[in-house]
Amino acid sequence: MTKTVIRSPEPDAIREAASILRRGGLVGMPTETVYGLAGDATNPRAVAGIFAAKERPAFNPLIIHVGSLAVARTIALFEADALRLAATFWPGPLTLVLNRLDQAPIADLAMAGLSSIAIRIPAHPVAQALLGAFGGPLAAPSANPSGRISATEASHVARGLTGKVDIILDAGPSALGLESTIIGFTGGPARLLRQGAIPEEAIQSVIGPLAPPEPGKTEAPGMLLRHYAPLRPLRLNARDVAPDEALLAFGPIPLSGPLSGAVQMLNLSARGDLSEAAANLFSFLHRLDQAPIRKIAVMPIPETGLGCAINDRLRRAAVG
Ligand code: TXA
Ligand code: MG
Repeated sequence: MTKTVIRSPEPDAIREAASILRRGGLVGMPTETVYGLAGDATNPRAVAGIFAAKERPAFNPLIIHVGSLAVARTIALFEADALRLAATFWPGPLTLVLNRLDQAPIADLAMAGLSSIAIRIPAHPVAQALLGAFGGPLAAPSANPSGRISATEASHVARGLTGKVDIILDAGPSALGLESTIIGFTGGPARLLRQGAIPEEAIQSVIGPLAPPEPGKTEAPGMLLRHYAPLRPLRLNARDVAPDEALLAFGPIPLSGPLSGAVQMLNLSARGDLSEAAANLFSFLHRLDQAPIRKIAVMPIPETGLGCAINDRLRRAAVG
């Protein structure tokens, strides 16, 4: 067991986190999407520590976080459309899966045996400061036990990983609340490997239509698992609420009728705003998971823009 400390991200806490990373330790790192569990991507022991802390299956590769495009280009091969996306969305909630360069100094375990590598430049100032202070690439999956709800607050990281992470930098709630969008460029057309904080239409406006997932290889390996699972069963597209259910609402709720009178209700966005709903999604699921209720009824979310990624996460959360 490691002693876990939670610190506000002042310069001395960031320096301490960087020295923990240099020793092969793990840091709860705030990003604009969700909190990451960061370790030195070049250190096999640190990378193994990430898999162990999350109890993550070894076939599920990690995202490598870097501070600049120049560093990213020493790790992977960027074709023209990948460069266009990087220029448009980095730093930000975009992950590119690219062919890895042979000389890339990344621990093999991070790629889980694949010849491709997932890379992202996070926009969060604390993530950038930590990358700067550490001075190398950081492997960072979402900071939750494998298969559970992603962490959008330092307290979520602590709840799932206390004793397994050395320091958590508490920068408050993640602004976006949904993981990065993952686009694959590993030969053939660009593919959408995971819906996320950048809607598909925004990607298409830069590089044109995306190809459907490759048959058989469908998406990111991590997306094949039961995922984002709350402890309570979820019922999607609910148009009413039962006495033993909490309501995860979206949009205005009539004062009377089948959706009123829930024992507990959290509204992702009373004004029907999808960005607000995305930012609230995981934190509300964490809260409902601790409430004295048996089930969670979820109102329909429109399948447009960020709603696609929100519905993707809800569908996975409802499995199992
Ligand atoms: O927003 C995010 O992306 C957050 C923050 C912390 O940056 N990170 C994150 O990491 O969501 P994680 O490990 O929870 O999800 C990474 C996803 C997994 O589904 C994994 O299978 C996929 O990326 N992935 C990683 N390397 C890949 C590769 N070479 N090919 C295809 N998918 C890959
Ligand atoms: Mg994850």
